[in-house]
Amino acid sequence: MTRPHRVRVADSMDAFEANAGEALLAAALRCDVKLPHACTLGGCGTCRVKVTEGRVSYAAMPLALSPEEAAQGYALACQAHAETDLVIEVPRIEVAEATRQPALVADVVALGDDVVHLTLVLPELASLAYRPGQHMNLLLPDGTHRSFSMASAPHENLVDFHVRRIPGGRFTERLAAEVQPGDMLEVEIPLGTFRYHDEDYREILMVATGTGISPLKSMCEALMDDRDCPPVSLYWGGRRPGDLYLDAQIREWGERLYEFRYQPVISRAEEAWQGHRGYVQDAVLRDIPDLSQHSIYLCGSPAMIHDAKQAFLAAGASVDHIYAEGFNFQR
Ligand SMILES: Cc1cc2nc3c(=O)[nH]c(=O)nc-3n(C[C@H](O)[C@H](O)[C@H](O)COP(=O)(O)OP(=O)(O)OC[C@H]3O[C@@H](n4cnc5c(N)ncnc54)[C@H](O)[C@@H]3O)c2cc1C
Ligand code: FES
Repeated sequence: MTRPHRVRVADSMDAFEANAGEALLAAALRCDVKLPHACTLGGCGTCRVKVTEGRVSYAAMPLALSPEEAAQGYALACQAHAETDLVIEVPRIEVAEATRQPALVADVVALGDDVVHLTLVLPELASLAYRPGQHMNLLLPDGTHRSFSMASAPHENLVDFHVRRIPGGRFTERLAAEVQPGDMLEVEIPLGTFRYHDEDYREILMVATGTGISPLKSMCEALMDDRDCPPVSLYWGGRRPGDLYLDAQIREWGERLYEFRYQPVISRAEEAWQGHRGYVQDAVLRDIPDLSQHSIYLCGSPAMIHDAKQAFLAAGASVDHIYAEGFNFQR
């Protein structure tokens, strides 16, 4: 029988054993070692770690990991299997640990055709600290959870979210139809490693589709009136102009962000549309063919993130300066 492999987490006392055929994340959780994760399906990228010693393999290459990232030692813990003993580096965020909190629904309003703006108050906290880019898990009575990213910079004990209604989706359909101000929900917050990297001084390129704008909005709000803010170019893709539900608001961000450029991109544009057309990543490359000097934040559809990574790496982007979170569904 194959012996389990020992996995040590660098710069910590954490270690665990992974059995043959067991994913690193499942093994870590079984041994009470916390590793960041969200979808557990290989689609969001939240569980990305760096393997500094040893070798991993996959039953099938996950969507949220490019071959270039794998070649540079990155791995997705929810899908990777240990082939040898390992040492892994896990991204850590200096922020309070996630806790379970009751959450009072303060407001639920439509933002365009299929997006709901949900505002929650956390009555047991005076204020909530999180890094712009992070998300929460909404805990459902059946024991499952749904992840949503904070859509604004931290503000006392108020948090807000942009939730896209998924046809047939158990939670998002109910949110749009039934959830009312005054209802109580339960959340685990704050979570995830997607965040603004203030140690990375490069010019910033942000690319979103749909509600993937939420964590980027949170980051931009935190950068407003900051004299050290690098130039920011934001590309936001939707199928039709109505999908870009914050378009008018984003056009005003330039007044408070240093050198801010914004390009809405429509994939199913009618004749009258004056702006960029097609896929959002292709629009970026038409404007900025060389991405070797940028730090890049990608958020939204896992398919967009997969394609954008491939295209941007071919345009000179560095694996170490691409930060991404795919809005995958959860089990
Ligand atoms: C880290 C993270 C942050 C996220 N942040 C946000 C956010 O800020 N705003 C937001 O709108 N969404 C966000 N998502 C996606 C969101 O969590 C899912 O859309 C949501 O869980 C769907 O819940 P549901 O109960 O309505 O659907 P479910 O009942 O769980 O799903 C039913 C079926 O619908 C399909 N489906 C569900 N979700 C999606 C999806 N996102 N894309 C394509 N097909 C889907 C699948 O086929 C699934 O089997 C995030 C996801 C992750 C991993
Ligand atoms: S938790 Fe591993 S990719 Fe989403």
